[in-house]
Amino acid sequence: MKLTLHVWRQKSRTAAGQMVPYTLDGVSPDMSFLEMMDTLNEQLIRKGEEPVAFDHDCREGICGSCNMMINGLAHGPEKGTTTCQLHMRSFADGAELYIEPWRAGPFPVVKDLVCDRSAFDRIIQKGGFVGVNTGGAPDGNSLPIAKKDQDRAMDAAACIGCGACVAACPNASAMLFLSAKVSHLAQLPQGQPERNDRVRAMVAQHDREGFGHCTNINECEAACPKDISVEHIAQLNRDFIASTVSAVVK
Ligand code: FES
Repeated sequence: MKLTLHVWRQKSRTAAGQMVPYTLDGVSPDMSFLEMMDTLNEQLIRKGEEPVAFDHDCREGICGSCNMMINGLAHGPEKGTTTCQLHMRSFADGAELYIEPWRAGPFPVVKDLVCDRSAFDRIIQKGGFVGVNTGGAPDGNSLPIAKKDQDRAMDAAACIGCGACVAACPNASAMLFLSAKVSHLAQLPQGQPERNDRVRAMVAQHDREGFGHCTNINECEAACPKDISVEHIAQLNRDFIASTVSAVVK
């Protein structure tokens, strides 16, 4: 395959960036998108040019690092697929691809395609843990949890925190991410003691980080590589209202 790539190049957080065109030949349809980017970087290094900086870690769709807008879509055109799991056979020979970092105020670009997503870490730190006396290892069946609750918790836990929901949302809202993290623990008995405090602390941190509000556009669900449902946002809203009322009553 022969491709024309337009890649966002930006030297540093404060430098101005621009789209730079590259021609790349000899791309195999079986390459992953990141392997294609590796091939571009090898070509740039051979020519003595600076390789394109991009984030990646597991390359297995688990870690959420490989954040790229591809032709205006977070993680590219395949539904439920991270950039690292996207293959070049999804594109036509001769295609022109526009590759950019996430675009959101709370995710400032650090260099080229790398953006700073530490805002998500701070939201998690505000309430993504449970305080429990662990004691000895409990028997696996000592705390029965209904199958439907297990399933909903596991569906929420599938969120890899990549930020595609933010990048896809016109409001740069992180409500899908936030709701998955809140909903994950809210389904389980272990998450109940701090349920009210957790939801309020995490929502407050979300707002402090500068993420926008949800206006039910649902673009986040369409872009999510793990198919997280906006139903978790409804659950988040219910939990937030209930916890606010209980705080007032107290
Ligand atoms: S590199 Fe880990 S999800 Fe893509």
